[in-house]
Amino acid sequence: MRLTVNGLAQDVAPRPGQCLRTLLRGLGWFGVKKGCDAGDCGACTIHLDGEPVHACLVPAFRAEGRAVTTIEGLAGPCEPGAAAPAELHPVQDAVLAAQGFQCGFCTPGLIMTAAALDQGRRRDLGDALKGNLCRCTGYGAIRDALDGTSRVADAAAASGTDPVGLSLPAPAARAVVSGTAPFTLDLAVPGLLHLKVLRSPHAHARIERIETAAALASPGVVAVLTHADAPDGLFSTGRHEIPEDDAADTRLLDRVVRFVGQRVAAVVAESEAAAEAGCRALEVTYALRPAVLDPEAALRPGAPLVHDPADRPIAEAGIDAPPLHAHPNLAAEVHGAIGDVEAGFAEAHRTYEATFRAQRVQHAHLETHGALGWLDEAGRLVIRSSTQVPFLTRDALASLLGLDRDRVRVLCGRVGGGFGGKQEMLTEDLVALAVLRTGRPVRWDLTRDEQFAATTPRHPMRVRVRLGARADGTLTAIALDVLANTGAYGNHAGGVIHHGCNEVIGVYRCPNKRVDGASAYTHTVPAGAFRGYGLSQTIFALESAMDELARRLGLDPFEMRRRNVVRPGDPMVSTSLEPRDVEYGSYGLDQCLDLAASALRADPGEAAPGPEWRTGTGMALAMIDTVPPRGHRAEARIRLEPDGRYGLAVGTAEFGNGTATVHAQIAASVLGTHPDRIRLHAADTDAVAHDTGAYGSTGIVVAGQATLRAAEALAAAIRDRAARRLGAAPAACRLGPEAVAGGGARVPLAEIAGGGALEARGSADGTPRSVAFNVQAFRVAVHPTRGEVRILKSVQAADAGRVVNPMQCRGQIEGGVAQALGAALYEEVRIDAAGRVANASFRGYHVPAFGDVPPTEVLFAQTHDRIGPLGAKSMSEAPFNPVAPALANAIRDATGARLAATPFAPDRIFRDVMAALEAGERADGRA
Ligand code: FES
Ligand code: FES
Repeated sequence: MRLTVNGLAQDVAPRPGQCLRTLLRGLGWFGVKKGCDAGDCGACTIHLDGEPVHACLVPAFRAEGRAVTTIEGLAGPCEPGAAAPAELHPVQDAVLAAQGFQCGFCTPGLIMTAAALDQGRRRDLGDALKGNLCRCTGYGAIRDALDGTSRVADAAAASGTDPVGLSLPAPAARAVVSGTAPFTLDLAVPGLLHLKVLRSPHAHARIERIETAAALASPGVVAVLTHADAPDGLFSTGRHEIPEDDAADTRLLDRVVRFVGQRVAAVVAESEAAAEAGCRALEVTYALRPAVLDPEAALRPGAPLVHDPADRPIAEAGIDAPPLHAHPNLAAEVHGAIGDVEAGFAEAHRTYEATFRAQRVQHAHLETHGALGWLDEAGRLVIRSSTQVPFLTRDALASLLGLDRDRVRVLCGRVGGGFGGKQEMLTEDLVALAVLRTGRPVRWDLTRDEQFAATTPRHPMRVRVRLGARADGTLTAIALDVLANTGAYGNHAGGVIHHGCNEVIGVYRCPNKRVDGASAYTHTVPAGAFRGYGLSQTIFALESAMDELARRLGLDPFEMRRRNVVRPGDPMVSTSLEPRDVEYGSYGLDQCLDLAASALRADPGEAAPGPEWRTGTGMALAMIDTVPPRGHRAEARIRLEPDGRYGLAVGTAEFGNGTATVHAQIAASVLGTHPDRIRLHAADTDAVAHDTGAYGSTGIVVAGQATLRAAEALAAAIRDRAARRLGAAPAACRLGPEAVAGGGARVPLAEIAGGGALEARGSADGTPRSVAFNVQAFRVAVHPTRGEVRILKSVQAADAGRVVNPMQCRGQIEGGVAQALGAALYEEVRIDAAGRVANASFRGYHVPAFGDVPPTEVLFAQTHDRIGPLGAKSMSEAPFNPVAPALANAIRDATGARLAATPFAPDRIFRDVMAALEAGERADGRA
């Protein structure tokens, strides 16, 4: 058939059943993204004869004779693979000016929808954009873009000034808005094979037999991989600097399946459809075993064992044997105490005790996990992956496959969101095995269904809190008892339970504290690293309880915190197992409390929708260590190029966290130049010696420190060389486009570079660590009988140290609040009685859409961290953490109902509000 794409006539022969999205990508129009292939996310939006459509829902044959416009051709006709055009469409210009993206994976689709809106539809953006999801921005910057508000500093005006502290645009901004920025799988590879996986339908079973003959005979199938073809070594999909931090309990392909959705076998074929047909032709015989889905039940005597010693020795699996772990289903535990907690409760004037529950939620980054592998000319294994941890993935692949580390290279394109989910090795191992087996390039792109059913959500937790305080509000005792469900494997089980039990109590100065945490194996989808790394669940519990205690004492919730939070000079006391390398590099919690309180006072926000709605306010706080414990290393290399520009190599990946912009700003600040003169080569194991990866804001706090040190060393070397040329003292030479001596004599940088390679390196190990703070406040209206919540005002005050790029940091916070609102109000990965994920689609899950997210006012404390690079601290995962308790506290203020479990679904709110009202009436009656 013939169609026109971006002004170019194209003759194509669609496969039976093919959709327009895959057809267009096959033609090289990679701006057409895949988020779901189900019409739910809008990432694939194109124009068909000028009308916006979801290309994944349009059968390819329907495009015959029609004009297709993709993001690449929005500004005018173009060829596939062309660079960003000189002139952009007005909507692209607007998104560029407002930096209306973070990872940018949703951006092409959003721009295509917005570009087709007439003025009338623009007035109701919530409705007009309901088919386009963004997981990163919280929609604030997109709203600004479509309202014509620019957030970005004028790059020309920024010339000659220190770029640190300016809202400069991302280096890739133009490529992102024009759809030409290559994400992980946006690469045409000749001879590419496709991989698909057959997954377990059972929560617990032993694979007795896999019959592969029919699959191998299926047209287009090149190879079938089962446990018989895979290395037998145990590893963890969770990646950490110290691999032993995660239980080595996983095999690449195992004989035992421990959750519905676990890999059983892989089929590699000439097309995705052929690989899927091959999977359907596999015949598997299972011996079913009893399963346990609930963590409390998993720890009872006689519970089915998730990792049965009969399957492998416990020690071999890396699961500590008793007595450290009392039950074989206990994946990790933490215990810590100071003072005498029971004496603290005895001393208390008021106590409060309750149990809270936080549910399993998904990262829902719009780019699913995926990897593309091949052998390079030297026969070296190359994996291009959607990962936050390329170096640790390289190391794990080498060890698992028995290869030398230098025979493996892992690199990233632009990564379409992560939120911790991409700290796992979920696709790279199988792709690597398939490449080595077939000798051909292999690609594996998880479906959205697989993303929900078989990747690693937040750990569900049950948290018991006991608090005690004197009459003046001074805390006398804190006790926390936490049980997490790590699912079938222990990836991040230990890290999450340790971290989740750490800063949550560390932020309060109290002489008597006790924390007991445990993480249990169950036959459910393995949990993993998720924004906040355990803290969002425990902070929901503790900050809700703190609010209740303040009420019982008759204290304002801000005042309750002011009286009890740690201050510089106080010891950092949390779990006794944490290394004591955390310091107050700066302290802005007091400012955050004041900023949030005054913002609520100054402007209460929107009016309640009607008289039947009840209104209330609530707040909560969070502290986070700026770097994870137990080691984080990063290296950076910077060189003065012959053209007088700089080449900066770092290991950290850009996945919407803004590190690319910040690294360029830090280096430019030191070298007295503009960030656009820094060429960045990032996220490639060939670029630098090591980088642990992106955990929280380590891309800025640790890798940024390495960049700072490398840039300082290079600046010193340039000054030395310039001083020799100019006959001046090095300290008297100023750097800019030229090196200028005190007397005005100057030498161009290109000439200095011409004197021979000028390169410097820097490294950082992430110690000591500092602390960052967030305070969230809401004013809400609650409809008591509909169970509906409206947010009338949302404000978050953040202490991020010196804010390197305020626009970008604000976007992180707005995005964190939006993601946390989804988790607080409606998101939940539901597991049915058979252990299956029951809502494995965006439609069944409900990621907040444009119209669901209220604006959040973002305020920054004025601090300068003496530990972080140029005064900066972390601010990527922390904004999520105080949102659910602040919302619960506002609902409590409005209705009297204390919500003890997330999400706050309307039926739960209705039930709890009705119960609170009845209790209030009974109390009134008694009075
Ligand atoms: Fe088409 Fe999500 S990929 S709507
Ligand atoms: Fe929208 Fe990442 S910027 S999904």
